[in-house]
Amino acid sequence: MDSSFPRILVVDLGSQYTQLIARRLREFNVYAEIVLPEDVERCLTSKGVYGLVLSGSPYSVYDSDVPALGEGVVGRVPVLGICFGAQWLAHRFGGEVVRSERREFGPAYIREVEGSDPLLGWVRVPWRVWMSHSDTIRSLPSGWEALAYTSEGVLAVFRGEVGGVPVYGVQFHPEVSHTEDGQLLLYHFARDLCGCPAVWTPEHFVDRAVRMIRERVPEDEEVVMALSGGVDSTVAAVLIHRAVGKRFHGIFVDTGLMRKNEAEEVLSALRGLGLPVVRVDASDRFFGALRGVVDPEEKRRRIGEVFIRVFEEATRGLERVRWLGQGTIYPDVIESAGTRYARKIKSHHNVGGLPDRLPFRLIEPLRELFKDEVRRVGEYLGIPEALLMRHPFPGPGLAIRVVGEVTPEKVRLVREADAIFIQVLKEEGYYDQVWQAGAILLPIRTVGVMGDVRTYEYAVCLRAVVSRDGMTADWARLPYGLLEKVARRIVNEVSGINRVVYDLTSKPPGTIEWE
Ligand code: XMP
Repeated sequence: MDSSFPRILVVDLGSQYTQLIARRLREFNVYAEIVLPEDVERCLTSKGVYGLVLSGSPYSVYDSDVPALGEGVVGRVPVLGICFGAQWLAHRFGGEVVRSERREFGPAYIREVEGSDPLLGWVRVPWRVWMSHSDTIRSLPSGWEALAYTSEGVLAVFRGEVGGVPVYGVQFHPEVSHTEDGQLLLYHFARDLCGCPAVWTPEHFVDRAVRMIRERVPEDEEVVMALSGGVDSTVAAVLIHRAVGKRFHGIFVDTGLMRKNEAEEVLSALRGLGLPVVRVDASDRFFGALRGVVDPEEKRRRIGEVFIRVFEEATRGLERVRWLGQGTIYPDVIESAGTRYARKIKSHHNVGGLPDRLPFRLIEPLRELFKDEVRRVGEYLGIPEALLMRHPFPGPGLAIRVVGEVTPEKVRLVREADAIFIQVLKEEGYYDQVWQAGAILLPIRTVGVMGDVRTYEYAVCLRAVVSRDGMTADWARLPYGLLEKVARRIVNEVSGINRVVYDLTSKPPGTIEWE
């Protein structure tokens, strides 16, 4: 991203909501970029920065290791401090913050707003806001004024000035949906107080991305990309293809571990988008590598290994390829960079080690986008909804949905069960209401009876979750009638399975996949 592009910097002081703040701003087309506190000074030297939002934090301003935000960053562009960010501002400029071990967590009400400040001009009282803090602000720096208190007497919003530039603090979290119209507060801060243009639209993004790819990839060089039909890689591929045309090569590795008819459907959808894609059928090699392996991480390692080898072989004839396209998105970038100040530990599945091993330079046009933005760009590019709204599916595929050793026969069983489950979810209108769903083949056989005959066959577990981002998830409360229909059809139609169970575990403590 060129540094003159108009933006608001969201300074990550360790809040679990930092990404949400940026997403909320971007939802109304204001570009927001997440930065670490020590990088703010450097970023402020560019013309593109219109304002700063300081996130919340698990820290207290009295902790010895509080995030390193220099005082000098305040007073250059308007600043909005949220929760810890507000306390930090008050404390740094001479106000008093009172330490507390007790936490206020939940709704609070603002019944009156002082004056007619542009930040709050739109507020209708009583206004429900969402609190999650321990310390509170007892007094403000001299000359700063309180704009609102909660009905419990907690200072909720203030305004001050440093070097003639406005400084605001809010004790609650405007970025979470529990705060009524909280997004409007961010909107008025960014647009009215910072004057940041709202030019972050899919159209603008696509034009810029295409231009930047053209500038980077010289006319005599080509780009290769592994395609899976996943949303991110598909949108990235369409963008790159738009930029370089015939110099784009898509490779679809058929692992034999995909869902029923998925390889054919994905290939025809990709070709329907005009993407040149070569299919490499390597299922025998994947099954060979998985023989005798039961450990989930070892399965992943071997699949990753074979994938790279197959991909490498497929690119060998492409002599002018110097670039590898990837569908990396913003959360992957932020999570792998890590944030020094977050106390929550996030797991991250990386993309299979392709970049490290191959002699190509990377091209990642979606590095700045959140998942919902990728979908918006996809829509703008004319990618069919069926591709954009697909559930996530793990790279190692059905291999990690067969608990224990993977064989072609077991993959067949889980594939058939999965297909029935997904089909019924679609028929009953529940597919788009769950984040992800699938079947898991359990490594046990149990006794049943069909007709007059005793059976002794495999059990399958249905898994369906609701989630915002896959980091945490809740098991989906699917109707009994739907579950019954799925169970009945699986036992009747998939010979080799005679029992169906449903997983009631949320994440945490469970994970979405069983392996
Ligand atoms: P877990 O099981 O960790 O899954 O709760 C969270 C999300 O990540 C997907 N997942 C994977 N994706 N390679 C991938 O590309 C993997 O090895 C992998 N393991 C889990 C999972 O399907 C869910 O969407």
